[in-house]
Amino acid sequence: MTNSVHLASAIDSIRLSLHVFGACIWVGGQFTLAALVPLLRKVSPDAPKAAARGFNKVGWAAFAALVITGAWNMSKVPSDASAGYQRVLGAKMMIVLLSGVAAFVHTRAKTSKSIAIWGSISGLTALLAMYLGVLLAG
Ligand code: HEM
Repeated sequence: MTNSVHLASAIDSIRLSLHVFGACIWVGGQFTLAALVPLLRKVSPDAPKAAARGFNKVGWAAFAALVITGAWNMSKVPSDASAGYQRVLGAKMMIVLLSGVAAFVHTRAKTSKSIAIWGSISGLTALLAMYLGVLLAG
């Protein structure tokens, strides 16, 4: 019986680790910040905004790293990938785009209702993009 479980090659492990590191910050950062907001508000009404500004820099750097390493991932997708794989990849691209646009609108929103709505859309689509990525990695 042949064993199909094998280790990633050195270069693939670097490519996927950089991609997953970006996802950790983009997804985990949004959820962690959301969890800290009520506590920060108790410290000072201005504290959530200051923390969000701090996260903005690292969050967008992570998103840029995800797009760059995502393009690297795409270059490694075999040309005979199944129709299902292609569909999931296409869906993931749309969700990634939506997550980025929602995060951007969230940073520009003025009313607390639209800040909450766009922040939720950004966080949930980021989580969905992560799930679809795991599905692609097989
Ligand atoms: C333009 C942006 C992106 C592209 C083109 C892209 C593309 C891909 C591809 C093709 C894979 C499969 C890699 C492989 O099996 O060798 C993958 C894996 C993955 N992606 Fe993305 N991705 C992008 C953005 C994102 C974002 C925003 C997230 C998280 C929110 C994310 C999370 C993941 C995860 C967790 C994996 C699984 C990695 C593993 O453990 O093997 N990706 N991505």
